[in-house]
Amino acid sequence: MKAITLISIISVLGLTAPTVVTASPQEDLKEFQTYYLKRFPDIKLEAFANGMYATNKERYDEWLAMEEFPPYEPGLAVGKQLFEKFKVGECFKNGGIGIRQHYPYFDAKSGKIKNLEGEILECLQKKGVDLEKEKFDAVKGKTAAISAYMAYTSRGKKFDVVVPNDPRAIAEYEQGKHHFWSKRGQLNFSCADCHIRAAGQMIRANALGPALGHPTGFPVYRKAWEINDSGNPALAGFGTLHRRYGACNEQVRAKKSKPQSDEYLALEYYESFMSSGVPINGPSSRE
Ligand code: HEC
Repeated sequence: MKAITLISIISVLGLTAPTVVTASPQEDLKEFQTYYLKRFPDIKLEAFANGMYATNKERYDEWLAMEEFPPYEPGLAVGKQLFEKFKVGECFKNGGIGIRQHYPYFDAKSGKIKNLEGEILECLQKKGVDLEKEKFDAVKGKTAAISAYMAYTSRGKKFDVVVPNDPRAIAEYEQGKHHFWSKRGQLNFSCADCHIRAAGQMIRANALGPALGHPTGFPVYRKAWEINDSGNPALAGFGTLHRRYGACNEQVRAKKSKPQSDEYLALEYYESFMSSGVPINGPSSRE
């Protein structure tokens, strides 16, 4: 029944499979951003940092009210304490302050994409922290809180992810782009079906937000996650972008990938590059 409703809504919207043309990342970026700026002429590039609230006035007002007493504030304070306790800043440029906008990046040495949470975990391991014993999860809790604090120190800085002219970096970018545009799951939806074509529309009770700016508010505190999280109540509801990817994969009954998997890192790389120029606004609160 659920499936039928989703599919019928989408067919009412007249969505068709998007054509993927091989183009350079720069050409893709221009096309991607121009699409949204034309479709929502009243919304400036910077305002896409506000996720679905940018395109939904009613929810925007609710969100502003929620942000007045941000539900992520106690968790953010824990993130700062952990950042200081484990001297996480020592592993990063500029002591880890104000650098969120450069993540993820292509690491020429390993040939892999590195994201902020991955480097936080690597840093803790280097310092001899037993991640399992200390309960550092890849997508929530303490790791998300440290990442949230680092995002907080970068607020207002514009996303500046680079796709260098290295065939290995381009291959990662293409993998992420492919994930974004491919139909998947029993419901056969791509990310683009919901977050490009149907952005600004409703799907059942959910307002769909634009993919432009997707990573800018992360990590987020999300009401829907809070009830499932045990442990420190200040950290309940925190989640990284990969946690959200898992939720969106499940929404269309597709198998989700593991957090920090090559698949999600490539997707994060693509989405972050597409958000070039949109300011960091993390952590943020979500329904
Ligand atoms: C069936 C529709 C649907 C599909 C397909 C879908 N999503 Fe979502 N997604 C949602 C809804 C609904 C939300 C919550 C409202 C919003 O933020 O857009 C959401 C939220 C998100 C968010 C959080 C945005 C924010 O600001 O909090 C991200 C990131 C995201 N989706 C990425 C993806 C990616 C990547 C894919 C493809 C793997 C995908 N989604 C596929 C429906 C979908």
